[in-house]
Amino acid sequence: MQTSSSPTPHADAGRGAQRFSAGSAGRYAIVISVPGKKAIQMIVITAPTGTIGHQVLENVLNGVAAVRVVLRDPKRLPSHLRERVEIVQGSHGDVAVVNRAFAGADAVFWLVPPDPHAKSVEAAYLDFTRPACAAMKNHGVRRVVGVSALGRNTAPVKNAGLVTASLAMDDLIASSGVAYRALTMPSFMDNVLRQVATIKAQGMFFAPLSGDRKLPTCASRDIATAAAQLLLDSSWRGQDHVAVLGPEDLSFNDMAQIMSEVLGKSVAFQQIPGDAFKARLLGAGMSEAMAQGTLDMMVAKNEGLDNAEPRTPANTTPTSFRQWCEEVLQPAVLA
Ligand SMILES: NC(=O)c1ccc[n+]([C@@H]2O[C@H](COP(=O)([O-])OP(=O)(O)OC[C@H]3O[C@@H](n4cnc5c(N)ncnc54)[C@H](OP(=O)(O)O)[C@@H]3O)[C@@H](O)[C@H]2O)c1
Repeated sequence: MQTSSSPTPHADAGRGAQRFSAGSAGRYAIVISVPGKKAIQMIVITAPTGTIGHQVLENVLNGVAAVRVVLRDPKRLPSHLRERVEIVQGSHGDVAVVNRAFAGADAVFWLVPPDPHAKSVEAAYLDFTRPACAAMKNHGVRRVVGVSALGRNTAPVKNAGLVTASLAMDDLIASSGVAYRALTMPSFMDNVLRQVATIKAQGMFFAPLSGDRKLPTCASRDIATAAAQLLLDSSWRGQDHVAVLGPEDLSFNDMAQIMSEVLGKSVAFQQIPGDAFKARLLGAGMSEAMAQGTLDMMVAKNEGLDNAEPRTPANTTPTSFRQWCEEVLQPAVLA
């Protein structure tokens, strides 16, 4: 996929394009209404019950659009949302399901679900996405917004496991010819929730990275805002990326300090060896390939995978780690 490091995510937007930044919360683009013509777009949301997907769905339902969701179990969608959407039941990795889901779609929100048991990182990202690419082409989908990762054109990306595969997925989608925006993220703040138990019990959290390496980190709510803005904006064209970097770069030691202040108890970060990290993943049931791919990604992050994207006002998104700790982590720790 051709990408630009341009700070303007929509340098190639069509004539009359409404420009916006990934961080300008609430500025949804307008679906132009022509008298006598139906102006409502059909937007398809994959993974609408997930961390990012459910927030994208809520945001898009606040805009001017008809919404279709693709999900395995409709009961997992809250009833107040179920009433407002068209449902295609099944996995969005399935060819018949995506062909039903993408018929008549203007825009698609594309998210590959984590697959801890996949036989390879390519199977997890590329094989899962192939049927959708064919369906996007078959049905003339106009625009796709995908969840991906930072790191393109960096040295460590060659062996960055899940991220290498995620960027190959972007290339695959782009090769279908569809207008595409890859949302490129660092690690999510929300990942800290996976360690609530040890934060609570031991005042510790762990990763196989240096505690001093400063990295961007973003909140899933800001990713969802950026995704919804793009989905509701019918003006952009071409293929590019939109980074979502959060407001500042922080090290794990910085995060420990902020957590300690917000939670009112001492929280410390401890770097763990790669082998121990991988053993934990395997112990939790992850396949060899996905555990190695996750470790490779972490090693690449320690080598600068997430540090190459120039920070701009547009990709500096609003939710701070302190705010996230106050609003999300603290209630989870107290629960
Ligand atoms: N975490 C990070 O730091 C980070 C950074 C950059 C990019 N990413 C990317 O972000 C994505 C994960 O997003 P997330 O955290 O929002 O995911 P999540 O919360 O784990 O949600 C996963 C969603 O996928 C659905 N799902 C699971 N398996 C499925 C299957 N086989 N077929 C169809 N649907 C399935 C789940 O639905 P049900 O279980 O309800 O059916 C759920 O809606 C991944 O692609 C990852 O590479 C993550």
